[in-house]
Amino acid sequence: MDAIVVEGGHPLTGQVRVGGAKNSALKLMAAALLAPGVTTLRNVPDISDVAVMAEVLERLGAHVVRTDHTLTIDATELTSHEAPYDLVVRMRASTCVLGALVGRLGRAHVAMPGGCNIGSRKIDIHVAALEQIGIEISTEHGYIDAEGAAHGAHVMLDFPSVGATENLLMASVLGDGETIIENAAREPEIGDLVAMLVGMGADIAGAGSPTITVTGVGTLHPVDHTVVGDRIEAGTYLIAGALDSGPVTVTGFDPDHLDIVLQKLERAGCVVSRFADGVTISRTGPIHALDIQTLPYPGFPTDLQAPFMALLALADGGSVVTENVFENRFIFADEIARMGADIRIDGHYALVRGVAALSGAPVRSPDLRGGAALVLAGLVAEGRTVVTDIHHIDRGYEGFVDKLRGLGAIVSRVDVTDPETA
Ligand code: UD1
Repeated sequence: MDAIVVEGGHPLTGQVRVGGAKNSALKLMAAALLAPGVTTLRNVPDISDVAVMAEVLERLGAHVVRTDHTLTIDATELTSHEAPYDLVVRMRASTCVLGALVGRLGRAHVAMPGGCNIGSRKIDIHVAALEQIGIEISTEHGYIDAEGAAHGAHVMLDFPSVGATENLLMASVLGDGETIIENAAREPEIGDLVAMLVGMGADIAGAGSPTITVTGVGTLHPVDHTVVGDRIEAGTYLIAGALDSGPVTVTGFDPDHLDIVLQKLERAGCVVSRFADGVTISRTGPIHALDIQTLPYPGFPTDLQAPFMALLALADGGSVVTENVFENRFIFADEIARMGADIRIDGHYALVRGVAALSGAPVRSPDLRGGAALVLAGLVAEGRTVVTDIHHIDRGYEGFVDKLRGLGAIVSRVDVTDPETA
């Protein structure tokens, strides 16, 4: 059992480069299924979620080869249309092959995702949207069965779901007619998927706006595509820099993709300098309390809610954090409370009363982003923090410990059986 051990109180300074976005790379890997031949993806992060997605593609008959941060995906022949439960249960995002299989093969058999640590995460919006473009869907024995060829339709999503927008895009690119997606998700990862699909020969307009129009084309061809920089990984290191005094420079991403987060960091008392592919952050005064509410892009990203809460836990007053995207994303608050944070939860609100200091403690990583946030809290806590269940962190952060060490943190990955004695 691995844990991350952090010795608090060591200054963070220097530069760190983020990789390609997890939430984009996984979908781009699925999109490669749409074109027979060999697709190349560059800037792919070396994280466990990518390894699981590679396994999903292999089970479908594709051949995936990784060299450093480049993946080649040979989807010349697909031999299966099933994404089995043993893989979907390991990574919910593998359900994004649903749209790609429907697009390429006209059928898919995909295990229904269950709940996860941040909520029930339903799939009803995906199903309703696919039905509207002519795909017949049935759910039996824990699987979604989809069959049919997409025809054009005017689809209004109940909520700008990232996953539903992606599945609908991939199911409709090779269909007939025009599909108009209203209330589409606007996340930069959607823009990256659309850029790749257009590179493959798709006809798609409006990415980044709430209305995306897909005009079906007959075939798609493989492409060579570079994954967009990971704004969430970048935000995590910037918040680490804000917790400490910095300066910390984070490169490899587009600062415009973190606009609201950077504005909030400035209002919290940080000095933020943006440049073409990164940001430098530093802070000399106290952390100012402020409110945040998570919303679909361009709102404050739910994936940075826990790291930002770690910052507000040390602010000079009370802050309200409102979680609007996921129903159960405050488990992190109970863990950081073990380090002395003063946080009261009421439904989807968290009242964070800033404290003067956190104290190192053994804590458990509740999920991917909550786990990273606990490590950040440990960096500025008094004494030692031991974060267990770090397999969650491995899902989305490549070389997390090494990158933090590069900034001067005293942090290590150890094999422990009893975190209390690590
Ligand atoms: C993606 C990201 C995740 C991010 C989230 C919101 C990946 C792999 N994950 O997740 O990191 O936090 O976007 O930016 O890209 N919902 C329904 N019915 C549906 C679909 C969604 O009720 O059919 C609900 C979900 O339960 C959730 C909310 O809508 O409460 C947002 O979900 P969605 O935007 O679909 O997020 P994901 O694509 O799952």
